[in-house]
Amino acid sequence: MVDRPLGDERGVQGDRSCSYWTREQTESITREATNVAPIIDPPQTRLDEDLHIWDTWLLRDRYGEVTTVDGWQVAFSLTAPADMLPSDRHDVASIRYFYSRDGKQWECGGELFDDDAYGQRQWSGCALYDDGDLYVFYTAVGHSDDVETTDTQRIAGATTASVTAGSAEVVIDGPWTHEILLEPDGNWYETEDQSGGLTYTFRDPWFYEDPETGEPCLLFEANAPVTDETPVCGDDTAGRQYNGCVGVAVSPTGDPLEWELRAPLLVGACVNHELERPHVVHHDGHYYLFISTHKHRFAPGIQGYDGLYGWVAASLHGPYRPLNDSGLVVTNPADAPFQLYSWMVYSHDEELLVHSFLNYLDFEGESLEAIAELPETEQTQRFGGTLGQTLRVGVDGDRTEILGTLDHWHLPTGDESLPEPVEDT
Ligand code: FRU
Repeated sequence: MVDRPLGDERGVQGDRSCSYWTREQTESITREATNVAPIIDPPQTRLDEDLHIWDTWLLRDRYGEVTTVDGWQVAFSLTAPADMLPSDRHDVASIRYFYSRDGKQWECGGELFDDDAYGQRQWSGCALYDDGDLYVFYTAVGHSDDVETTDTQRIAGATTASVTAGSAEVVIDGPWTHEILLEPDGNWYETEDQSGGLTYTFRDPWFYEDPETGEPCLLFEANAPVTDETPVCGDDTAGRQYNGCVGVAVSPTGDPLEWELRAPLLVGACVNHELERPHVVHHDGHYYLFISTHKHRFAPGIQGYDGLYGWVAASLHGPYRPLNDSGLVVTNPADAPFQLYSWMVYSHDEELLVHSFLNYLDFEGESLEAIAELPETEQTQRFGGTLGQTLRVGVDGDRTEILGTLDHWHLPTGDESLPEPVEDT
């Protein structure tokens, strides 16, 4: 163990040091006025009645700031036909893009890729607009020539210079060049074969160039092998399968399509199996790292919620300490514990804005997994399948507080100033 500031756990993973999310820290995960989102009602109409829309990301620049193309905002979402059972949507997910002039009214531009994207289907990623080039990093899931649906995950990147922003629409129609960028190495990052029963993860790439050092990084969700030497697990053999981590690769050449793996930034060994959609926001001189996870992904004996969890550090590579002691930043109310999921944060007007999708509304089961026990029509009726209301979050060092909400799909950028927050009742 290396010297560490109070509240920060560092250890060695492979031959590099990394930060840990510890069982002790998770003991203080509790619902508080500062972290519980209000009940979010579904919008009158979904953005697109024909689509389930879930994980969403906004176009960003190299430094993770939300950016625009000739004044247009662009968002990308995982989508599936709305007439399918919501829990089956992951098996057919494809990325569609949306554009907006004012950050409130959004139009669907259609499917982003044609058939030459890697994978049987595509899961989450991010989009970087850099000097007229669009890079979309995504998770290639399964191999396109597999007959059965498989969950093999590889990190892919696609690039095109063909982004046309006219007076009435944004057209992104390729051609695209696709590449597989990263696969797990079996040392820092578990391969599918090494995974011990729980669904393995190697997905959700997130491009981020450190604004202080200029180092380009690609963050992603993965699993880190747990050994007898993992400092935070002790004798907890039952919890060892729960080994979610935030992985990172760096690009020594600066090329967004060339990456070398490095040791994880944060490891949830014996705490949580899925640290989903990791991303960093540079705010007030600090590095804030965020992930989403589910209640049922916490190791046995840990009480956690579906939520947005965060950490803060003075440098991109850490050491990271959890926000609010436990890491919990946003969760759902106890009587609607699965209403929002897959939160993404960006910095705007001194606040953090947090968007997410409406998951299962009006469902109070023990765990999200229990949804499968409901009749299929009820599962469909309760699934929101569009973006929820944007949350406004105040942050001061390692403390955060929900300040209020904006409308569904209201994603302010640029110089749009926010009204005084009104307390939701
Ligand atoms: C989060 C998530 C992502 C994954 C996608 C698959 O909601 O699990 O980690 O890329 O959904 O649909």
